Amino acid sequence: MTKRIYIFDTTLRDGEQTPGVSLNPQEKLEIAKQLEALGVDVIEAGFPIASNGDFEAVKLIAQNIKESTVNALARANKSDIDRAYEAIKYAPKKRIHTFLATSDIHMKYKLNMTEDEVLEKATSMVAYAKTLVDEVEFSPEDGSRTRKEFLYRVLESVIDAGADIVNIPDTVGYSTPEEFGLLIKGIKENVKNIDKAIVSVHCHNDLGLAVANSLAAIENGARQVECAVNGLGERAGNAALEEIVMALRTRKDIYGYETNINTERIYRVSSLVSHFTGITVQPNKAIVGANAFAHESGIHQHGVLKNRETYEIMTPESVGFKTNNMVLGKHSGRHAFEDRLNTLGYELSKEQVNDAFLKFKDLADRKKEVSDRDIEALVNQGVVIIEDVYKLINFNVTTGNNIESTATVKVAYNGKEKVEAACGEGPVDSLFNALERAIDISPKLNDYSIKAITSGTDALGEVRVKMSLNNKNVLGIGVSTDVIEASLMAYMNAINKLN
Ligand code: KIV
Ligand code: ZN
Repeated sequence: MTKRIYIFDTTLRDGEQTPGVSLNPQEKLEIAKQLEALGVDVIEAGFPIASNGDFEAVKLIAQNIKESTVNALARANKSDIDRAYEAIKYAPKKRIHTFLATSDIHMKYKLNMTEDEVLEKATSMVAYAKTLVDEVEFSPEDGSRTRKEFLYRVLESVIDAGADIVNIPDTVGYSTPEEFGLLIKGIKENVKNIDKAIVSVHCHNDLGLAVANSLAAIENGARQVECAVNGLGERAGNAALEEIVMALRTRKDIYGYETNINTERIYRVSSLVSHFTGITVQPNKAIVGANAFAHESGIHQHGVLKNRETYEIMTPESVGFKTNNMVLGKHSGRHAFEDRLNTLGYELSKEQVNDAFLKFKDLADRKKEVSDRDIEALVNQGVVIIEDVYKLINFNVTTGNNIESTATVKVAYNGKEKVEAACGEGPVDSLFNALERAIDISPKLNDYSIKAITSGTDALGEVRVKMSLNNKNVLGIGVSTDVIEASLMAYMNAINKLN
């Protein structure tokens, strides 16, 4: 029988700690549903004590996810553990993941605790968590920089106290593959009761070695890997889920392990995560980058045409990139559109299909050919439907190289309509200034970015704005063939999320 590696996804916890990323509970639930369909064994849904929003998101996920284990993070203290339990108690399969730093530098400067105090605290808190749930995971934070004898003592003690999984983090991404592999080997050989627990690893990518370190750990006895979609996470991120899974699958001859991941769904999850987080996937990113399966040089193209395996070690289809010969346009009907959605891996409600089809028809009127990337952009936008408290009725803008841009907007909210006008540095600035006057809140615009989804002057433009109000940060997204309209849509999307 082939042995199995458990995939623990932390996109919604460590991944959400990516600078600038903030997801609301509905967006987190949508990602969690996609992770469940992807087949991840454990979803780390969040850190419930961190904020009410985090607590609500973990609770929502626990109430809706049935197949994957729902995991909540807690520091090694009772209030964190109680809060984690309150959030995950609804899940059929649940786990509490508690952690405490064990390296000299963390114990001295961060915790101000001795080794004996850390040992006692870790052990008693694992025992406490075990009174609440059947499955408890313990992480000695900064494990890779911890004195080995102390690490072995802590692991033995927490396993005796009931830890089912011991997770070794390379918290600061300092290890190298050989060193990290030996660390896991040492743990397997020196912790007496290690066979009573699953050994897990959690590698950060500060030196670009997170995936290599995780694979070295697997070769030395780790059976659970913690990772995040698109490699999101603190600082340089965590090991990328898609890279670990595809390395295990493509090089099964070396590793000999299977995962439960339905790899054909990888691209879909990656694109949704990128859409909600606003973190674009670099084109040359392994597995999910736009160029991951593109062959530029003539020699390569020639080889691939003769036999794909000359330059392709895995197929684009195996990770969910669909090669498509059928072009959709304004004459395409609902049937062809729905068929395309199915091929692209979307399972949408009737309401979502209707919404997407209307947007598709509208786009097909403006653009000759509608590509898969266009469809993705339209559909991702409608995955989480937010209530439009502020509605844009119409807008008008005058701009040129020898006049000041002037804009007028008409918006509706709370049953009233308001018209405002303003000038600005170009059309977008004048429209945003007019909008700011027209609404009854004063959000701060922190970032504005624009990109074309496909090429050509009729391409869909995607605008993203980051806004904040009263310590709440949101990302607003607008998609249109008209970049001015896309900018307005992004602004409206953001203020409706702030509400
Ligand atoms: O990087 C780290 O050490 C963590 C722990 C909470 C596992 O994220
Ligand atoms: Zn981490």
